[in-house]
Amino acid sequence: MSTDPTSPDRPARARRKAERTAEAELREDAPRTKPFLKWAGGKRQLLDQLMRYVPEKYGTYHEPFVGGGALFFHLTPPRAVLSDNNARLVRAYRGVRDGVERVIRLLRDYPHDKDFFLSFREHDVDRDSDAEVAAWLVYLNKTGFNGLYRVNSHDRFNVPFGRYASPNICDEDTLRACSRALADTDLPLDEDFGSVVHRARKGDFVYFDPPYVPLSASSSFTSYTSAGFGLAAHERLRDVALDLKRRGVHVLLSNSSAPAVVELYAKGFIVERVAAQRAVNSKASGRGPVTELIIR
Ligand SMILES: C[S@@+](CC[C@H](N)C(=O)[O-])C[C@H]1O[C@@H](n2cnc3c(N)ncnc32)[C@H](O)[C@@H]1O
Repeated sequence: MSTDPTSPDRPARARRKAERTAEAELREDAPRTKPFLKWAGGKRQLLDQLMRYVPEKYGTYHEPFVGGGALFFHLTPPRAVLSDNNARLVRAYRGVRDGVERVIRLLRDYPHDKDFFLSFREHDVDRDSDAEVAAWLVYLNKTGFNGLYRVNSHDRFNVPFGRYASPNICDEDTLRACSRALADTDLPLDEDFGSVVHRARKGDFVYFDPPYVPLSASSSFTSYTSAGFGLAAHERLRDVALDLKRRGVHVLLSNSSAPAVVELYAKGFIVERVAAQRAVNSKASGRGPVTELIIR
């Protein structure tokens, strides 16, 4: 067999990986991109602060609450496992990884129209292919109110039509860049964050960005899927993080600065307070800088 890493007789995935590695070695930095979805709690505003705590060298990158994956797409690490308990989201990532041209073709045909939106959000997407799930999710994300993802008790998407004049429904460059970034990424389905314990090895890097503990009782973003994420889940997450740290895995977490979080991570962790610009709150008054915690 040829020793040339770009030889056509190597299996396609291995060849793509070798090409990307060779490409990355030619540059000072790995190729960076931005998420193909906007996601509640997205980390684009916190990237500079997070980057200060990313280890210089690590094995596999793990992100068990991937959401829009802002840190992943910024880092574009060569080996990664991304998961989320929102199965449609993970299937959308698979669709973009494996069939980005099909996703683009579908998106080009979807009109920016309220009636189309209202009937498309009712569509039973779970029987469709991963590429179709990706196009469905991207469309609703770009045209729905504030890019939110919310479902009713029957798992039907129920976010109203957004108020965008001309949303960029089919951002081809970003979709293709994301597809390249995902090429060698594992995307396990239906995974709770706790599975990372069985997978992460010494020297790996795990970034946890859970649904935040609400700062005040009136904060409504305590659940992202029908499941919800309460204090017991936050305690379980803290124990998982501690277990990983003890095994020599690099761990980074973000959360709100609610007193419950400060208390949870008081022992065994370093906690930094940082200022983040938040855009999830729909009221303009809720968009100022807020203090968040970066924990390691
Ligand atoms: C704050 S968002 C992550 C945002 C992401 N870092 C970004 O930049 O867009 C939290 C994510 O955790 C997922 N999630 C909630 N509970 C989970 C669980 N038990 N296991 C895995 N993922 C969960 C939600 O579906 C949501 O996508």
